[in-house]
Amino acid sequence: MAVELTTKIIPAGQTAVTEAARRLAEGGLVAFPTETVYGLGADATHSEAIARLYRAKGRPSFNPLIAHVPDLAGAERIARFNDTARKLAEAFWPGPLTLVLPKTPDCAVADLATAGLDTVAVRMPAHPVARDILRELGHPIVAPSANRSGHVSPTAAAHVASDLDGRIDLIVDGGPVSVGVESTIVGCFDPPLLLRPGGLPRGAIEQVLGHPLRRPRPQPDAAGQPMAPGMLASHYAPRTPVRLNATQIEPGEALLAFGPVTLSGHGAAARILNLSERGDLTEAAANLFSYLRALDTANARAIAVMPVPEHDLGEAINDRLRRAAVPPT
Ligand code: TXA
Ligand code: MG
Repeated sequence: MAVELTTKIIPAGQTAVTEAARRLAEGGLVAFPTETVYGLGADATHSEAIARLYRAKGRPSFNPLIAHVPDLAGAERIARFNDTARKLAEAFWPGPLTLVLPKTPDCAVADLATAGLDTVAVRMPAHPVARDILRELGHPIVAPSANRSGHVSPTAAAHVASDLDGRIDLIVDGGPVSVGVESTIVGCFDPPLLLRPGGLPRGAIEQVLGHPLRRPRPQPDAAGQPMAPGMLASHYAPRTPVRLNATQIEPGEALLAFGPVTLSGHGAAARILNLSERGDLTEAAANLFSYLRALDTANARAIAVMPVPEHDLGEAINDRLRRAAVPPT
């Protein structure tokens, strides 16, 4: 049965890029693909559009947004680069890496988008559709993942529609994304900090920096704001309870597998999806959010998840799985 949608979805192409940029310039909300996940974009200089964006997502307004730019010149207009930032941008941009840096004095990103911080998170996406829209608009675009706050991030246009239909102005459909988890966030402080593991593995960053990357201590700052991103314990959560490191399957559970499935009881699983039968972490990251969504519709009493190794993209996958396993408060 076809479901009637209120929000227009158009396939990626020049028409879509032109319409997306026009809507954004008018203060509209446009979902578009990036290589990591679909983003919900608003013109970063347009406070009213950003207010609408927080409302559409149902996002707590203390959680600041990432400003997306098409090129290094655009990044340097809004953020002050130090040596760390320059090295990382040169090595990994465009790509799934976000840098947190001090704002420039004439940073055009609205205070609402940075939640009043004196730093800004900047990212140059690699996806051609995202880049075309950024160039056409000529302003930075703030874009959180295009899901309702606390839900699983969207890796296809249909996921965006199921969360945000009727709440946003346009969805540009560029097909499924390639990376599948959000960008890695590095705070370019002294020393640099890994604020969020993501689509760029820690090892690649450490190789360029020449030393290990520390995680911040998980504490709120003096104003009670989460100092590091994604510190809300429950996040990326399906509605079905998630049970990690499963070594056997209980009756009525669905299984999110990784590698060869040898668990006892798996024959009785309500449904099984395998992130990667050959145990490939890149493939697993690309499948993670769409499989969580699919298993969430299986009417299972829980989603049991097999262990995923912690190396390479496994760090980001396990970070999202641990958050998915915390019940919403
Ligand atoms: O891959 C991605 O990064 C996707 C795509 C759409 O680009 N975007 C994304 O945005 O994941 P969002 O809003 O879901 O996550 C942004 C994270 C938040 O956890 C926020 O706390 C953090 O970035 N953040 C933004 N500005 C910050 C700042 N100035 N300091 C520390 N963290 C910041
Ligand atoms: Mg998100």
